[in-house]
Amino acid sequence: MKILVLYTTIDGNTEAVAEKIAEKVGADSSKIVRVSKIRGYGLINKIRARFEVMFNRRPGIFPFKWDPRDYDLIFIGTPVWYNSYNPVFNTLFEVIKIYDRKIALFSTGETESQKALDKFSKKLQDSVILGRYHCVEPIWEDEDLETERILNEAADWAQGIADEANRMIEQEEFERRKTIYKF
Ligand SMILES: Cc1cc2nc3c(=O)[nH]c(=O)nc-3n(C[C@H](O)[C@H](O)[C@H](O)COP(=O)(O)O)c2cc1C
Repeated sequence: MKILVLYTTIDGNTEAVAEKIAEKVGADSSKIVRVSKIRGYGLINKIRARFEVMFNRRPGIFPFKWDPRDYDLIFIGTPVWYNSYNPVFNTLFEVIKIYDRKIALFSTGETESQKALDKFSKKLQDSVILGRYHCVEPIWEDEDLETERILNEAADWAQGIADEANRMIEQEEFERRKTIYKF
């Protein structure tokens, strides 16, 4: 089974989760990088970011390494921006339609709120969503042990998703053969 972790990050929290997941399940990983930089701090940047979220803007992104359509299972990770997913995904899904795929969504945010994942799930409703995971800013935990605990929790969640996807693919293959050989 081919697995991809597709994510974006500004400060590294979502990236830390993405890397841990990729390592655990043996996935390729691909970071979506904006052309025009935006930082989370400073009034101007905050206004720009909010504007992009409110109006579903599609900021320019650099070409990225892997095509999601070549994968059986895709983990997609986003930092929460104003209770929503990051606007770079508006751009991505405009260019590449991900449908009829097994996907799992994860996010990192300042709070425990799952609102961004709700919106993300709606946006990707043409795919089979196998699960969702959210955590609070893992790399900014005061204790390294707590960072490690969160990242391990994310990795275990991802392993469960990968096992489930594998089972589904085996079952689908079995059903396909049943049709071909009529047993
Ligand atoms: C522009 C902006 C808006 C944000 N809005 C929210 C929000 O609505 N809710 C929340 O819990 N965190 C919010 N955050 C915090 C980030 O989601 C959080 O720090 C996340 O872990 C950052 O991920 P990253 O380090 O991968 O960029 C916001 C951060 C930025 C920069």
